[in-house]
Amino acid sequence: MIVLGIESSCDETGIALYDTTCGLLGHALHSQIRMHAEYGGVVPELASRDHIRRVLPLTEQVLRESGHTLEDIDAIAYTQGPGLAGALLVGTSIAEALAFTLDIPAIGVHHLEGHLLAPLLEDNPPAFPFVALLVSGGHTQLMRVSGIGEYELLGDTLDDAAGEAFDKTAKLLGLEYPGGPAVSRLAEQGRASTLKLPRPMLNSGNLDFSFSGLKTAVLTASQGKTAREDIAYAFQEAVVEVLTTKCTHALEQTGLDRLIVSGGVGANKRLRESLNRAAIKHRFEVAYPRLEFCTDNGAMIAFAGAMRLKHLQAGNHAFTVRPRWDLAELTAP
Ligand code: KG4
Ligand code: ZN
Repeated sequence: MIVLGIESSCDETGIALYDTTCGLLGHALHSQIRMHAEYGGVVPELASRDHIRRVLPLTEQVLRESGHTLEDIDAIAYTQGPGLAGALLVGTSIAEALAFTLDIPAIGVHHLEGHLLAPLLEDNPPAFPFVALLVSGGHTQLMRVSGIGEYELLGDTLDDAAGEAFDKTAKLLGLEYPGGPAVSRLAEQGRASTLKLPRPMLNSGNLDFSFSGLKTAVLTASQGKTAREDIAYAFQEAVVEVLTTKCTHALEQTGLDRLIVSGGVGANKRLRESLNRAAIKHRFEVAYPRLEFCTDNGAMIAFAGAMRLKHLQAGNHAFTVRPRWDLAELTAP
């Protein structure tokens, strides 16, 4: 079965073609980062309008480059939520209209389920069950994953997500949007200084996170004498230590020995180093998506859709989007 995946929940238009027998056939991405950069963050209306311009040309590109035509597609998966309502509506309405004209099924995918399953697109994917660390711009969650749609929330952020903390820190340090890669690049020039930032909830006895205090500490530090690169370094070390420690605790608590990491912050080099070291020390396996599939992309949506579509028939093409949608509401297909 060949599934076309369409991602348009935020500031990236992602299109991919996934074959349940042969794997990923092709994918393409258009990032709106440059368009939003001058505003310091995503402007929802501009995002929707740009998705409208990109979805069909990118779909044509992926089909052409992979040597396929629309007639080869057996189903369409699209991001139904959570995300920006207008942006979601673009991918959703195009997907449903295409599926209607081709008389094939379409399925709305949970964006975070897409992220969560992205490591399974790689060779030798980890088997269920495993612990998943989902670290994106909007979420920081630890989950016990027993199968597709079987997600038990173990821990969540009480305030800012890790990616959000990176983005806000970047702003405080005068770096461009999106902040994660920028802070991480600046941190590479920094070094351990006398500045000690807090490790929020490190020893809270549960698997929850809190990052807003860290942002306040960065604000205070940025008004002092510490060099910007040393603040970036200290900030990244604090986030990485908290994430690594909580992952280790989650594995201990569940008795599992496999961890997957996904979402934009999963691209962070220092986080990967730290988790790889913990994996050796505490004897667990850790798997990541390839770097380009940590952030938003169509491949993860095509894949998550394919996993669910096995159970779906062609038919009704009425649709809604779900700008707010709790991952824990999902059930197995
Ligand atoms: O998963 P994602 O593309 O979007 C959401 O669904 O939220 O994640 C985007 C987030 C942003 O906050 C961005 O700053 C962060 O991931 N990010 C990073 C890195 N690359 C992206 N954070 C830290 N280090 C990175 N290398
Ligand atoms: Zn995302």
